Amino acid sequence: MGRVDVSPRAAVGPRTALLFVVVLLSALAAASCTRALAGGRQPPAPGAVALPPRAGVAAEAQGAQLARGQPLYERRCASCHDAEGAIGTSLDRVMLGAYVTARALFDYVKDSMPLDAPGKLPDQDYWDLLAYLLRSRELLPAGMTLGPENAETLRIRK
Ligand code: HEC
Repeated sequence: MGRVDVSPRAAVGPRTALLFVVVLLSALAAASCTRALAGGRQPPAPGAVALPPRAGVAAEAQGAQLARGQPLYERRCASCHDAEGAIGTSLDRVMLGAYVTARALFDYVKDSMPLDAPGKLPDQDYWDLLAYLLRSRELLPAGMTLGPENAETLRIRK
């Protein structure tokens, strides 16, 4: 048996060790300064949704519109569009995008659809079912409700 090997750590001299301690202490000091500058803001509680309050309200409003729109779309539109053997055009992203704005799509749909009863739904029903249709094709941004106030500026051509 030879000598016990000296590990590289044991070979660190006292000056290097002192330097290490100084560097460590200044890192700790800098970290606590940064926390103080951040105003001691607490991270969100576990399970909390980390959205600013207004985004939460918008998400809720959109959720409510989509919850109204989905059954309307399924009852009034789906049997002729994208169903097995449907007589209507497939309402995919490219076809919907040809209307360029949500307003133009609304005007067409209100004038002509449902094919068997054009214009017979209340305007709000058209907005709700179109919100559902557009959102399900990723043509309506998250958190946005669709209505006469933004349909003109909402571009659906991608
Ligand atoms: C009874 C069947 C029927 C129902 C119900 C119906 N559609 Fe249609 N839809 C059609 C047919 C057929 C066409 C093609 C009409 C044409 O080309 O003139 C069409 C065309 C369309 C178009 C235009 C497609 C294009 O090529 O530009 C849109 C958008 C549309 N429908 C949306 C709707 C929406 C939204 C609803 C529900 C409110 C609905 N449709 C309900 C049969 C239907």
